[in-house]
Amino acid sequence: MCGIVGFVGTRNAAPILLEGLKRLEYRGYDSAGIAVDHRGVISISKVSGRIEKLCELTDGGKTMPGFAGIAHTRWATHGAPTDVNAHPHMSCDGRFSVVHNGIIENYMELRDELMGNGYLFRSQTDTEVIVHLIEMYYDGNFKAAVMKATSRLEGSYALGVLCSDEPGKIIAVKEASPLILGIGIGENFFASDVTALVAYTRNVLYLNDGELAELTPENITVYDCTGTPVPKTASRVTWDIEAAEKGGYEHFMLKEIMEQPRAVKAALTPRIQENRICLDEFRMTPGELRGIRKIVITACGSAYYAGCAGKYAIEKLCHIPVDVQLASELRYSEPQIDSSTLLIVLSQSGETADTIAAMKECQSLGAKVLAIVNVVGSTIAKLADYTLYMWAGPEIAVATTKGYTTQLSILYLFAVYAAEALGLLSEKEYQRLIGELQALPQKIQQVFDMNGILPRLASKYNTARSIFYIGRNTDYAAALEGALKMKEISYLHAEAYAAGELKHGTIALIDEGQPVVALCCNDRIAEKTMNNILEVKARGAQVLALAVKGNRTVLTQADDVIYIPGTDSLFQTVVEIIPLQLLAYYVAKENGCDIDKPKNLAKAVTVE
Ligand code: BG6
Repeated sequence: MCGIVGFVGTRNAAPILLEGLKRLEYRGYDSAGIAVDHRGVISISKVSGRIEKLCELTDGGKTMPGFAGIAHTRWATHGAPTDVNAHPHMSCDGRFSVVHNGIIENYMELRDELMGNGYLFRSQTDTEVIVHLIEMYYDGNFKAAVMKATSRLEGSYALGVLCSDEPGKIIAVKEASPLILGIGIGENFFASDVTALVAYTRNVLYLNDGELAELTPENITVYDCTGTPVPKTASRVTWDIEAAEKGGYEHFMLKEIMEQPRAVKAALTPRIQENRICLDEFRMTPGELRGIRKIVITACGSAYYAGCAGKYAIEKLCHIPVDVQLASELRYSEPQIDSSTLLIVLSQSGETADTIAAMKECQSLGAKVLAIVNVVGSTIAKLADYTLYMWAGPEIAVATTKGYTTQLSILYLFAVYAAEALGLLSEKEYQRLIGELQALPQKIQQVFDMNGILPRLASKYNTARSIFYIGRNTDYAAALEGALKMKEISYLHAEAYAAGELKHGTIALIDEGQPVVALCCNDRIAEKTMNNILEVKARGAQVLALAVKGNRTVLTQADDVIYIPGTDSLFQTVVEIIPLQLLAYYVAKENGCDIDKPKNLAKAVTVE
């Protein structure tokens, strides 16, 4: 996912565009660029790395005068995050520049056609075909050339286009990717979302798919795909800039919880092509994989609990022992690690000091490192031998949610990929597992649709002194993260216990009314944990059970039941964690906690 923004008016565009990019940074920030038209000459500045780097490069836009411009912040999909692959892209004759959010699915054939017609490509992106198509179709009519070019495109695109022959105009086109127009006074804007506009105007026009807009300082004209003008009515944005960044949600955490279907899809979809898992960034050969005797997963906080959940899938499918270790512990233990060890490092920020230190320690012992991180170009990403980006979009809330589920989804993907590469999966089983992975985003979405009771449930638990979370196997992994979420944002004491462990001491703590969250979602062992429900109920506990839809027995045992859709038991944790995130959120909200910035916590602990 990328962010685009455009401006045309009677003041310099560059500073406005850079501010807009900062507001879109949550959409991605592995590279950024800006193009400005100054008296009929287009100049471009673009760079890999954060938007801040582009601001420094252009001295806050001062080095790029001009009253019309387009800009882009990128999450790399086609082509690594490099200066050359950054947008905007320029036509061979320098007359056009384009920024794009989306994926052009037929770009390879278009690229071949254009190269056959003598157009020179500079980047590995899909986007570059667009700017050369426009040049190829241009006969003096800017809008017509853009319309002809976009009629050749298959896929999704929100486009911004500059033409040096028409310096007081920018064109925006929408197909399947978000694009909004901002109406100013003597100036007009386009952007991927309202966040980039609301500081300048709250009067907006929403483009529909297939529509093209011509923007000048005084006018916005919208056309349909036949070139017929389309009358549009302006809307008024009611959000302030802060709310707009939250997309209208009260807290970033809730926004990020609700984004998880899209985030998990963004993590998985580009890596499943024509029913094959493609991990281009993980270049270990099957022969090298066969040489791996042990996998060690290391991380901190929720990332560590994602590792605890992913361990089950990797061990079951790849038949390789997996040792999950807290980074702060691993770095001071005598790690039994050598060149036959694959170290998997999980980190949303890619900057956690303990994780970096543990990673360096293991690398010095000969381990190869696969990093699963969210922030492109982060320290861990740079140090690793292989990096799989989570593509979750920036995560603002300190307590991670979409970071956890995208990390875990990629661990599942890796497990299936490695098992197939090791020849341990039949084609039928391989395809079944891929189908289960592809279904995860909609199953996460179904959890939202199935659980309107969570806000009410929260008021039953928000005054508890402590809450026990119990489960077995993949349910236990979910219990670990569920308990941490509750502690992190509601400050209630919560502990996760392996359900089978209760009878060995912990059950002594179960008194009348003691809340217990019992996770019975792993269909292979749910019955065992349901027996534990009876044990704690017999001692007066108040039980909230999580179960897969259709489990009616649990209704007779627990005080409350939250149902979730079923999936392969190996992948169940990434679905069952959702109601636990929401339970913690609503309990914290009930208690008036600072949900996005919990006390004493930091989004990334970059010190030991
Ligand atoms: C903590 C965060 O500081 O660090 C957690 O509050 C996170 O949400 C943990 O899981 C690890 O951070 P990272 O960036 O390495 O995943």
